[in-house]
Amino acid sequence: VRLRAEPLPQGGAPDTALVIDVLRATTTAPTLLDLGARELLLTADEAGARALRGPGTLLAGERGGLTIPGFDLGNSPLEAQATPMRGKRVVMTTSNGTGAAHLTARTARQVLLGSIVNAPAAARLALALAEEEITLVCAGTGGRVGFDDLYAAGVIVDDLLRLAPDTFDLDDGAWIALTLCRAEPDAHAALAGSRHGQALARLGFGTDIALAARHGQSEAVPQLVRGSGEPVGTL
Ligand code: MLT
Repeated sequence: VRLRAEPLPQGGAPDTALVIDVLRATTTAPTLLDLGARELLLTADEAGARALRGPGTLLAGERGGLTIPGFDLGNSPLEAQATPMRGKRVVMTTSNGTGAAHLTARTARQVLLGSIVNAPAAARLALALAEEEITLVCAGTGGRVGFDDLYAAGVIVDDLLRLAPDTFDLDDGAWIALTLCRAEPDAHAALAGSRHGQALARLGFGTDIALAARHGQSEAVPQLVRGSGEPVGTL
């Protein structure tokens, strides 16, 4: 088994991919499931999300960190906790995370959403599903590498190594992520210090950063369900 941590899969089709957008899409997604949402639908764009409005459906999404006008909620795990969620179908669209999931879904056999909150559970499921290789796809911001996502990838690599020592052949991307994470044991400090973390704090979302740093708080691992066409359906 090899691990890769790359901005997006290139070349060969990934076997099992974990998409990471720790601030905040792939932190919010497991939170929504923990709160009782019955289904998540990820769309890459706003129009796709609006087209799915219907009874029992909430539209969740941000652009520039802020709630999209007319949507029921933004992309804040804190805000999600304050929203009645049980039994809802939630359509999510975010600036980078949902687009990264869509791109990954074009090629990967299995697509999971991972972050720090569900890292141990995501590592367990990826290990169970992978035939040869686990690819960590860091969403980043605007096509640029994000320190926050690379750090979260390192946390997941660390959990994978803990689960299955001597199993993995890490590539340099995974090794960079692991080294980064081991150099800063305080996940909150790491996320808060990233450019994205600083931008979210300026917008008043400091609590979301603290929520995103809570390792192993969630057992929920959103997993792409095939056959649902566009948008990506996840459980
Ligand atoms: C994204 O998709 O880029 C993020 O989740 C943005 C955010 O912080 O809400």
